[in-house]
Amino acid sequence: SRRVRPADLDRHKAEGRKIIALTAYHAHTAGILDAYCDFILVGDSLGMVMHGMESTLPVTVDMMIVQAQAVMRGTSRALIVVDLPFGSYEASKEQAFHTAARVIKETGAGAIKMEGGAKFAETVSFLVDRGVPVMGHIGLTPQSVNTMGGFKVQGHTPESQESLMDDAVAISRAGAFAMVMEGIVEPVARTIAASPEVTALTIGIGASAQCDGQILVLEDMLGLSDRAPKFVKSYGALRGHIEDAVKGYAEDVRGGRFPAIEHTYPPRS
Ligand code: KIV
Ligand code: NA
Repeated sequence: SRRVRPADLDRHKAEGRKIIALTAYHAHTAGILDAYCDFILVGDSLGMVMHGMESTLPVTVDMMIVQAQAVMRGTSRALIVVDLPFGSYEASKEQAFHTAARVIKETGAGAIKMEGGAKFAETVSFLVDRGVPVMGHIGLTPQSVNTMGGFKVQGHTPESQESLMDDAVAISRAGAFAMVMEGIVEPVARTIAASPEVTALTIGIGASAQCDGQILVLEDMLGLSDRAPKFVKSYGALRGHIEDAVKGYAEDVRGGRFPAIEHTYPPRS
């Protein structure tokens, strides 16, 4: 068996199958996802989710590489996509290629993702022409939190709707195989996903069920994050499970019930 490739995802769409994706940053969780997800994103959300940062801006390429290596080790089937973090690709298409090549060489991941629309179309085609499969990311782009004036849903005004469509078309034409559409009002996301000019696969998060696929941050949907956005459906309550386990352990140690005899090593007989 081999890993899913970007081109395989087009066949999914042609066959009318939704593309299933989640984020992961660890070998063990990624290993659980591997059988169920077409692709796994090693997202720069790891800065907030794993490290308690207030935004994704401080995340470095080295951090992305370490977690992508962990996810590669834990999986054998899913396509692994790795985010290029803030500051590692925006200055020039050459900088973007240098970072993307480093990520691919050091991790073996099958594709990279970068935030940005029409302004990054030239960068997208530069990378694709040089053998790097690119996933775009439009709408609410968390690396632009400071210029967007917060984490704000996009597509409320006619100007914003037009520029979102321009972004989606531009990165499709540039050769991105897919794009994340994040935090976009539903009818606008639906229109973009349905447009024949948007040839890249559309992966929604806080967007529309009409996208070609969906992605969520794993810790959000598992109920491990302390708070999750409105667009997250809860599929678990891990926070409570972990708290119960830790509480039980503390009580057992305090009460002398752990370790029991079966958790200890008898002498050699
Ligand atoms: O970093 C991330 O987890 C992402 C997803 C929310 C798409 O970019
Ligand atoms: Na991201």
